[in-house]
Amino acid sequence: MHNAIELKNIVKRFGKVVANDGINLEINYGEILCLLGENGSGKTTLMNMLSGIYQPDEGEILKKGEQISIRSPRDAYSYGIGMIHQHYHLVDVFTAAQNIILGLEKEKMDIAAVNDKVLEICNKYGFDIDPKKKVYDMSVSQKQTIEIVKQLYRGAEILILDEPTAVLTPQETDKLFKVLRNMKKDGKAIILITHKLAEVMDVSDKVAILRKGKYVGTVNTNETNPQGLTDMMVGHAVSLNIDRPVYENPTDKLVVKDLTVIDSDGIARLDHVTFTAKTGEILGVAGIAGSGQKELLESITGLQHVSEGTIQFINPDGKGIELVGKTPIQISKIGVGMGFVPEDRLGMGLVGSMGMTYNMMLRSWKNGKGIFFKKKEPEEQANKVWKNLEVVTPSIDFPVRKMSGGNIQKVLVGREIASRPPVLLTAYAVRGLDINTSYAIYNLLTREKMNGSAVMYVGEELDVLLELCDRILVLCGGKVSGIVDARNTTKEEIGFMMTTVGGLKGGNS
Ligand SMILES: Nc1ncnc2c1ncn2[C@@H]1O[C@H](COP(=O)(O)OP(=O)(O)OP(=O)(O)O)[C@@H](O)[C@H]1O
Ligand SMILES: [Mg+2]
Repeated sequence: MHNAIELKNIVKRFGKVVANDGINLEINYGEILCLLGENGSGKTTLMNMLSGIYQPDEGEILKKGEQISIRSPRDAYSYGIGMIHQHYHLVDVFTAAQNIILGLEKEKMDIAAVNDKVLEICNKYGFDIDPKKKVYDMSVSQKQTIEIVKQLYRGAEILILDEPTAVLTPQETDKLFKVLRNMKKDGKAIILITHKLAEVMDVSDKVAILRKGKYVGTVNTNETNPQGLTDMMVGHAVSLNIDRPVYENPTDKLVVKDLTVIDSDGIARLDHVTFTAKTGEILGVAGIAGSGQKELLESITGLQHVSEGTIQFINPDGKGIELVGKTPIQISKIGVGMGFVPEDRLGMGLVGSMGMTYNMMLRSWKNGKGIFFKKKEPEEQANKVWKNLEVVTPSIDFPVRKMSGGNIQKVLVGREIASRPPVLLTAYAVRGLDINTSYAIYNLLTREKMNGSAVMYVGEELDVLLELCDRILVLCGGKVSGIVDARNTTKEEIGFMMTTVGGLKGGNS
């Protein structure tokens, strides 16, 4: 029997950058293959050649043993290949069904029949969308579902998903994996890109590994483990441990009292949240998605209207400055930095056409240093981020837009850490980052902590929260259900607090 798709010796160059250097890959029907590799190793580029966005400079693509040539996304469709990109191309004012048939030649077809066919696909694989709902009313996860259904509607039998789980909550990821398993049972060939090794182990049959544009090999998932995969990916053994040193004299840095945010529907998104973040400490924030994490960070950084409560930034002399009522720029100048992962990385505070140096300057400018000051300092910062996080780029002046997704992310988070704010807020800082870089980020955060910063880490992976943080604040429905010592708690305890208002410790502590 032939493979669904086979790639032989694929080479792709961008100027001097060799993004893919002799890649071989095989995927069968009824199989889930994970494509694994560090940021910038060439995964997206390789898949873009299957979806007709790029053409290889060398090499062959075979479908069921026959050589094919994919010159456009339309060609890809005709070969039954569908790719779900990291950025969705949906029209907000259209319904799900209208988006699904967008661009099809038979576009004037009977919308009732389209709705029926969409529902049929949903029922078959276990998707959960309403074909008549407009896209602007949808969550990221629902938008992603539309993109997948769109490919199935077009008859895709080979599906490629580029980091679909980077924007999903753990619950949404579980749902997606259920659907993928159903598609596999139905005989589809599925290629999945993800940096989360637990997901790789959970859902894949085989793992193909790339390293710096080269093909390392393919292994059966049941014959490997996360450490083995990491070693193959990085090329040498790496330690997957986080050091957690203790800071000698922590003092109060951010004192939050009765913080309350009421939204336009009169619902309390934050309900009398009270806690203190200390110098020399990483304070984790855990909670099911939508429990108030966003509102908490936005309140501290001045992006959110606060209905009630106070946020005091404590200076080294012990005097407090009230942050509520100040503008984001004022708060940033006082010393609160925010490193987080927006859904649209380029939209958020990075100028894509410029290199790293300029983008470092942008951050300093926000701190009120003026845009025309010396280039030396941002250059040093850019070099530091480049080295510490191993940013894959030919130079610090290479346009950020041309970097891989994960490397753009490194610039965004690295810049915030490099500016060394006394209060460093991070949210989903390692989304889209490879495992090696994730650990580099954990180490940098720990270094800032030991330098006396108060670090807040909003994250979803309980294992990481438990290993990295000193204390963990658990949010549930906008309330603090407790604050626990990370060294003396369990996943079960935190999980319980995440779902139980009031939690174990009896409310705000
Ligand atoms: N249009 C382009 N012009 C120049 N270089 C590019 C272009 N597209 C990709 N590259 C380079 O090709 C290399 C591989 O990028 P690619 O996006 O395929 O990586 P990736 O494995 O998907 O990484 P990530 O995990 O961060 O998404 C990178 O060095 C990137 O800078
Ligand atoms: Mg990529």
